Amino acid sequence: MSYTTHPEVKPEVTGFFDEATNTISYVVKDPASNSVAIVDSVMDIDYAAGRISYHAADELIGFVKGNGYKLEWLIETHVHADHLSAAPYIQSKLGGKLGIGRNITVVQETFGKVFNEGTEFQRDGSQFDRLFDDGDTYKIGELECLAIHTPGHTPACMTHVMGDAAFVGDTLFMPDGGSARADFPGGDAGVLYDSIQKVLALPEETRLFMCHDYGPNGREIKWETTVAEEKAHNIHVGGGKTKEEFVKFRTERDAQLDMPRLIIPSLQVNMRAGELPPKDEDGRTFLKVPINAL
Ligand SMILES: [Fe+2]
Repeated sequence: MSYTTHPEVKPEVTGFFDEATNTISYVVKDPASNSVAIVDSVMDIDYAAGRISYHAADELIGFVKGNGYKLEWLIETHVHADHLSAAPYIQSKLGGKLGIGRNITVVQETFGKVFNEGTEFQRDGSQFDRLFDDGDTYKIGELECLAIHTPGHTPACMTHVMGDAAFVGDTLFMPDGGSARADFPGGDAGVLYDSIQKVLALPEETRLFMCHDYGPNGREIKWETTVAEEKAHNIHVGGGKTKEEFVKFRTERDAQLDMPRLIIPSLQVNMRAGELPPKDEDGRTFLKVPINAL
């Protein structure tokens, strides 16, 4: 598939770093209007206490409102396993449409089983306003955006290209961070390698924005790089590393990784587009902990 991009259009991108989960949320502004999108928002959780709050989301809302921007889209690059999405909360305050990759249905099928959800949990993606297929386009004001299917970390991962900026989710990390794990259910290291090649085939000067950064080797947190930088220096795929080398390395590495601290609450909420599970008859909300299932 060949994609049409618009590298001459340069949206304003503002990153918001969440220290608790090392996630970067973005506000992306159309240069020709006041329209914006929010990519990968974060809902705060104190998991030990079972307490939810919205400090990170309120910061995004304050930024959008304070600048007089109009929120048109809430984009999830994928179903995150390490933080909870605040998309429905933000949507309730600012409006906008919520979009994710079409293969959310595969993720919902997998984790609907893991969490033993009943038939009231829909596995058809209907919790979202838009399910993107590979090559789909949409607009933020006059800014034309493109969704590219980049599975491997999860089956529903998409990279969103907005002018000269691309939001890669967990398809890539900064050059010195390499790549994300590919061992969650539905993940695949070989598929991830092929998806990374799609990102690296974008114009060399494309600005790439990460969903996470962990500041490897004590460096300060960073979230922006370019296709050229990743091609030359990415420690897992740069400098012409082959698919065989990557799959071997990634598989061995993943076998040593612990589950992310927030995977259990994150998946239960994010597979529902960021909604908490339905309340019981007394109006209380619960999350489940499946035993020996992950
Ligand atoms: Fe992720």
